[in-house]
Amino acid sequence: MAFRGVLSLHKQYLPVTDKTPMLSLGEGDTPLVRANALSQETGCEIYLKLEGCNPTGSFKDRGMVVAVAKAAESGARAVVCASTGNTSASAAAYAARAGLVCAVLIPAGQIARGKLAQAYVYGAKILAIDGNFDKALELTRELGEAGNFAIVNSINPDRLEGQKTAAFEIADDLGRAPEILALPVGNAGNITAYWKGFNEYARVKATALPRMWGFQAEGAAPLVIGKPVADPHTVATAIKIGNPASWNGAVRARDESGGEISAVSDAEIRAAYAYLAAREGVFCEPASAASVAGILKKLRDGKLKRGQTIVCILTGTGLKDVDFALSAGFTVETLPAEADALMNVLQD
Ligand code: F0G
Repeated sequence: MAFRGVLSLHKQYLPVTDKTPMLSLGEGDTPLVRANALSQETGCEIYLKLEGCNPTGSFKDRGMVVAVAKAAESGARAVVCASTGNTSASAAAYAARAGLVCAVLIPAGQIARGKLAQAYVYGAKILAIDGNFDKALELTRELGEAGNFAIVNSINPDRLEGQKTAAFEIADDLGRAPEILALPVGNAGNITAYWKGFNEYARVKATALPRMWGFQAEGAAPLVIGKPVADPHTVATAIKIGNPASWNGAVRARDESGGEISAVSDAEIRAAYAYLAAREGVFCEPASAASVAGILKKLRDGKLKRGQTIVCILTGTGLKDVDFALSAGFTVETLPAEADALMNVLQD
């Protein structure tokens, strides 16, 4: 029987040794789905990489499985991370799987409840701080330096090694890299990792490289304005980050690829989120929709050349944040349990 998972699937490109525990929850190998409505609307070939299909519902599992396996290999007993939610859910799951203690630092009241529920049920120690993500990451670094914990944020290079594998899968599925890779940018680990992955792939298979298009939320767009944002805000809580740890990696990915990092508004994120669900049948979380919001904005601005192949990374599932899903005034009327009453409503 072949065992699935990032460590097995991509072993030769990862820091796996004889001593690395082959941890897996079946992460990686996620679907690349053609976006039919979006392709028709833009005149481009657009694909969605459904990273919400990973075991804890976000792309974080790819890097986390590597970081936690390496932490276990090095004899660590505990892992720690700061998080806007998904990293904490993923760290908690893989730590549970590996028999390690997990502590997560989160900005109190600012992460989606599905993610909080995951960290809780997986058994993490949850430290909710009176401060934002950037502060939580600062404190995490301090705890890591004290030496008792392995940090599993994307400042840990093993995380980026695991995350780069998504680039391999996209290039394998398409038979080449896309012309454009569009993704949301928060702490900027993912854009850094994808760029590394496409470069490694290109060296082995002599393929072309994509242009990297990163999208930040307007109220949390330090890479767009070129300086940290002290008090970031956006409905896309996953990317509510004012001082990305992988700042330099993101700038390198942007500049070396001839790409760009630009901003989308919360209204544009909401519209793309709704579009993806209603037109493509894909339910992602608000931060993930930033990639498609960016593409639709380019289209409106007349800056999207037809005929290009574009992959949008949908980083997490919509089930993470049902409060957001139902926040747009959703109500449902209870009907009498009679066929006639139901028929009346259906015929309206
Ligand atoms: N999309 C989602 C759903 C995320 O959770 C994140 C980051 C990003 C995009 C941005 O990726 O940080 O590599 O640029 N979430 C982190 C967390 C910060 O703690 O879960 P990035």
